[in-house]
Amino acid sequence: MAVETAEAPASRPIENAVIQTRALTKVFAGSIRAVDGLDLSVSEGEIFGLLGPNGAGKTTTVGMLTTRVLPTSGDALVAGMNVVENPNAAKQLIGVVSQSNTLDRSLSVWDNLYFHGRYFGMSAPDARGRASELLERFRLSDRAAAEIDALSGGMAQRVMLARSIVHRPRILFLDEPTAGLDPQSRLALWDVLSELHSAGQTILLTTHYMEEAEQLCHRVAIMDHGKLLALDSPTRLKESVGADTEVRVAADGDLEKLADCLRSFEGATHTAVVDESVRVYLRGSAGVLPRVVDHAEGAGFTVKDLSLSEPTLESVFINLTGRDLRE
Ligand SMILES: Nc1ncnc2c1ncn2[C@@H]1O[C@H](COP(=O)(O)OP(=O)(O)OP(=O)(O)O)[C@@H](O)[C@H]1O
Ligand SMILES: [Mg+2]
Repeated sequence: MAVETAEAPASRPIENAVIQTRALTKVFAGSIRAVDGLDLSVSEGEIFGLLGPNGAGKTTTVGMLTTRVLPTSGDALVAGMNVVENPNAAKQLIGVVSQSNTLDRSLSVWDNLYFHGRYFGMSAPDARGRASELLERFRLSDRAAAEIDALSGGMAQRVMLARSIVHRPRILFLDEPTAGLDPQSRLALWDVLSELHSAGQTILLTTHYMEEAEQLCHRVAIMDHGKLLALDSPTRLKESVGADTEVRVAADGDLEKLADCLRSFEGATHTAVVDESVRVYLRGSAGVLPRVVDHAEGAGFTVKDLSLSEPTLESVFINLTGRDLRE
């Protein structure tokens, strides 16, 4: 199987890695292992995703890589720079969009960008030019004079993204960039990220939306409880499920028993009980749904709902943990 497991990823450091962690660990309050021995390598120009449920350790990982959180042990390097030894130099190399709105509410949109540039040592004309250029590029020029509180969530997110790259960082970190956005704003932000990628920007983003990881990321690290569970391209991760079809069966009665019963269904590779339904993983999808119903009802279950899809990154997560990404 192509998936790197938790035992293996460190053994494959990437030569031109622009982000590198080695056994990176953060223990809070003496006992909470938020990040636990993480080994990651991200290549120049890659969009790399950290996917995991709430509390997986995504923000803490980004926090350490961006000098906001001090590691308990292990190493974190950005563009070859150790972030603990050289935090100020590292800060110049990175752009960060954090999980909450950190725009300065006392400044206009344009000023937020301009003063960011000045803070990062850009000359006044350079910062001015860059602020206007980025607002144009992110289709925000008509909002240049707007107050921050007057922006929609999607726009505020685009302003934060524009601000984060004013100083031309080598690496961009985005923590849950589309959390809380409506679907349209989410798509608009994906477009902007794709444009940045086309221009060569290296991006590390965290998300608990599997669609986001699938659509945007070249490689995805699936995390849970501070540990890396799998790391590969979305396609290869999905192949690791070992099935090409996933059927969800909602039914009354003991779902564990139904899962047991469906394990013997023709073509089934395995089953799991998640989120009040049984997932059946199968090879082949032709005519499957009526046969699943027959199989379940033949064993005395009443099927309430049924759906069929291809495996997703969520299936990968379920396969690895037995749980749903959202639980
Ligand atoms: N400052 C802190 N002090 C103590 N515990 C913390 C602190 N920050 C995070 N944690 C704990 O560390 C673990 C990982 O948290 P983290 O915020 O990194 O997860 P996450 O994957 O970003 O989750 P979410 O999807 O909710 O943003 C959680 O158990 C969290 O409660
Ligand atoms: Mg987080």
